[in-house]
Amino acid sequence: MNQHKTRIYLSPPHMTGREMDFLKNAFDSNWIAPLGPHVDAFEKEMSEYIGVKAALALSSGTAAMHLGLKLLDVGPGDAVFCSSLTFSASANPIIYQGAEPVFIDADVKTWNMCPRALKLAFEDAEKNGRLPKAVITVDLYGQSADYDPILELCNHYGVPVLEDAAEALGATYKNKKCGALGKLNVLSFNGNKIITTSGGGMLLSDDEDMIAKARFWATQARDPAPWYQHSDIGYNYRLSNLLAAVGRPQLEEIESRVAKRRQIFDRYREALGTIPGVDFMPEASFGRANRWLSVMTLDPEAIDIKPLDVMKTLEKHNIESRPVWKPMHLQPVFEKYGFYTADEDNSFSERAFETGLCLPSGSTLELSAQERVIEIISDVLKKKGNKQS
Ligand SMILES: Cc1ncc(COP(=O)(O)O)c(C=O)c1O
Repeated sequence: MNQHKTRIYLSPPHMTGREMDFLKNAFDSNWIAPLGPHVDAFEKEMSEYIGVKAALALSSGTAAMHLGLKLLDVGPGDAVFCSSLTFSASANPIIYQGAEPVFIDADVKTWNMCPRALKLAFEDAEKNGRLPKAVITVDLYGQSADYDPILELCNHYGVPVLEDAAEALGATYKNKKCGALGKLNVLSFNGNKIITTSGGGMLLSDDEDMIAKARFWATQARDPAPWYQHSDIGYNYRLSNLLAAVGRPQLEEIESRVAKRRQIFDRYREALGTIPGVDFMPEASFGRANRWLSVMTLDPEAIDIKPLDVMKTLEKHNIESRPVWKPMHLQPVFEKYGFYTADEDNSFSERAFETGLCLPSGSTLELSAQERVIEIISDVLKKKGNKQS
């Protein structure tokens, strides 16, 4: 077996080389706390980059989703519409709040919340007298959802949007950045994201009062009193000053990281996209995707090999790849909840899961490593996969 020693990861952390200077500065000032100048600066720099009035640095994107739902007053007995094709952290906080998710299918053009399925869900909810308390959109793999039709529907029914832009830092929708499209918006700085603080997240909004309230909850809900007094239940959700220091130099390089990931995607598409039955996640014309992960699809009508077979072959060569997210409505923990699709016979989120494979996409991926990945995939598909041969 042609086992390579150096493993190629899906999306490993990418340090700029300046993180240690920022960390040293944090140590020297002795701000070893979930407060401090790097946290303040990270929030300010991120809100300026995204184009929103306020930001709150948190210990994870999941914590940001949780506080977002709490700010929207989601509680027991409420329904929340949520994009089905996503990672479970988009939906879990609905359960933390004692509410009930209703999953919405994805659209073939964007791979994100399908406005036609959303409309069906709203019409039923209105008929049943149970409108959702919030709608969670996701900007999957770094591509924005199609916000104009989604927001038109949500505004019509008076329901706020919580944008899960965890994967989409640096992506755009029309003239706005992902992370600025909902009433409340979430970013993640988890280890595999386009910038990473090892773990971390942010909640962003133009509503400064909401962010102030979330800051209060995230810092153990301490009332302004000389002693520890609490008139509400709090959380310990703040990002440490050390981790904010790690994130700041990476944010400065966000544009070159997006360019690098887009270049990686283009190379995959050029090298593999001409093989019959091979396709790639499309880029919607309304904006710029950050191509956080490059996703290839294999049409079962044209190719005999499945994404999982390609994944196994890559693994034998010490290369990490990953199936497309298994939709939430198919997850054992969520299958009892509702699901809306505009196409009963052909749910797009199910098709994406069955046919898609995420390829190594990190901004540190070297050309020679990517060529190795391409060669292996190309060999598997050409030798074994093509149904005509
Ligand atoms: C779509 C999506 N939502 C939410 C999260 C949760 O973010 P975190 O890992 O920072 O809690 C992630 C990634 O981890 C994600 O990919």
